[in-house]
Amino acid sequence: MNLIISGTNRLGSNSLKVANYYKGELLLKGEAWEILSLEDLPHDILYTDLYGKRSDAFSTIQAKVSVAQKFIFVIPEYNGSYPGALKIFVDACSYPTSFTHKKAALVGVSTGKYGNIRGVDHFTGVCNYMRMHVLPLKIHIPHIKDELNSEGLFVNPITSKFVNEQIDEIVRF
Ligand SMILES: Cc1cc2nc3c(=O)[nH]c(=O)nc-3n(C[C@H](O)[C@H](O)[C@H](O)COP(=O)(O)O)c2cc1C
Repeated sequence: MNLIISGTNRLGSNSLKVANYYKGELLLKGEAWEILSLEDLPHDILYTDLYGKRSDAFSTIQAKVSVAQKFIFVIPEYNGSYPGALKIFVDACSYPTSFTHKKAALVGVSTGKYGNIRGVDHFTGVCNYMRMHVLPLKIHIPHIKDELNSEGLFVNPITSKFVNEQIDEIVRF
């Protein structure tokens, strides 16, 4: 199954809410995608799953990554870039088979006013290094606290319009 990666292990993250929105909209279009939240990474991943090591806990995650052909990365802005947890996740995945020649769509999320433009650019570089095909339409959602209502839906119709355009492109990608 294709994967929506919620790119932080922060509990209660807005990225996970956005990931859930994508999952729901994809389902409405007949596409069943699974969310992989970085909350579910093994807590000792730095010691158990880097540099050739592999834990049972991460093996389950790796199996999902190996099967997926398309990924949506929802990427929060942390200190002007993407989270370290996301890089650790990518580094822990088997290289090069996990991501090479697969497809990625990127979504930036931030409290501030730039919607993680820089972090999404930085992560695009990582995707390109891994020889992924990156969907040219990238979505940036600034001021995320004003964007989502209590049901996890976008209150601004312009945001949902662009998000849904990207979702249509992901389906065709
Ligand atoms: C460690 C950390 C660094 C952050 N740095 C930035 C930043 O540079 N710019 C910004 O607009 N928001 C920043 N934020 C706020 C996040 O963008 C905000 O929490 C938003 O909801 C997306 O992250 P979330 O998925 O963790 O909720 C930061 C949050 C954390 C936890």
